[in-house]
Amino acid sequence: MTVQEQHQLGVQLFEKGQYQQAGQVFAEILDTGESSEIWNDWASAQAAAGRLEEAKRGFERALQLNPNNREAVGNLAVLVRYDLPRQGKTLPPDSQSISAGTAMTAEMKRNWDFVDKRQLLFALIGYDFGMEPETRLEEIREFKRRESQFLINTLQLTPQDVVLDLGSGCGFIARVTAPLCGKLYCLDISREFLRFAQEELQSFPNVEFHRMEFADLHSLDDKQVTKGYANAVFIHFNLFDIVLYLREVYRVLRSGGIFLFGTNNSDSLDIHRDRYFRIVLQHYVRDRTSPTLMQWNSACSVCAIARQIGFEARELWSGNGTAMILVRKP
Ligand SMILES: C[S@@+](CC[C@H](N)C(=O)[O-])C[C@H]1O[C@@H](n2cnc3c(N)ncnc32)[C@H](O)[C@@H]1O
Repeated sequence: MTVQEQHQLGVQLFEKGQYQQAGQVFAEILDTGESSEIWNDWASAQAAAGRLEEAKRGFERALQLNPNNREAVGNLAVLVRYDLPRQGKTLPPDSQSISAGTAMTAEMKRNWDFVDKRQLLFALIGYDFGMEPETRLEEIREFKRRESQFLINTLQLTPQDVVLDLGSGCGFIARVTAPLCGKLYCLDISREFLRFAQEELQSFPNVEFHRMEFADLHSLDDKQVTKGYANAVFIHFNLFDIVLYLREVYRVLRSGGIFLFGTNNSDSLDIHRDRYFRIVLQHYVRDRTSPTLMQWNSACSVCAIARQIGFEARELWSGNGTAMILVRKP
């Protein structure tokens, strides 16, 4: 068996819930040569089997070999911030947290309110900026500015536009769009995120903030919205959520108005390579009861649903398990 085949076997055993056997296969690969990726897989199998200290050691070794192994960073963070507290280990009070793509309590999932800036930033960008993201705000702003380029190129905002930023988070995308449009409405289900965004955007006079209830855009009823976007928000929605939100967007958009959103796309998903999918799957294998932060839907089905709601819809881009979808109200 080649190393690749052995690795595939380990992954399959893991996904069947046979963690001990999976761990053995990964250990055999490690005996023939260490790599950050296999240490991460080995540690995941230990975590799934409930051997949390070994798992921690494995993730740490994965990070020693490659400090940029984002999957290992995420997994270690999940372990430290989520699993250890559940096992009754001592952690600071703010550690009852979530990780990008893994578990959150039903309450957190409902209102997305987190205790402090750090937790908000973890929910926003995962662990890509380390364990103290509040110290790296300039880098995060720059990352978000680059992320918003597709949206900026697609929406072609003008001073005549009345724009909806749905799920505005910390306001990092709104910082880029606000100077380009006439009026910007930042809506979010989370009071804490809105507070962060308000601070972030205090020098922009054309931005208004509205806390919204789930799938309720009534605060925009008389606003004549011409364009809108939701960046990294529909990735958290199941198909029911998407139907409810698209119906609302349809209602508040002016005729001819457009709305762009990114979503996780099962049509272009590689279940073996996508790091978020793998992390969520590993979490799901361990605990099927708590809600997870990330959802996958077929972009093709999402477009079909949008059309049934009345939109013209098309996938502008698809790849790596994600898609950008543009809908237009005729
Ligand atoms: C990953 S963040 C993205 C924030 C921002 N769009 C960005 O790209 O920086 C997801 C945001 O969606 C918001 N959110 C999650 N579920 C929501 C819902 N059902 N309705 C409105 N906002 C929601 C969260 O509070 C959070 O601000």
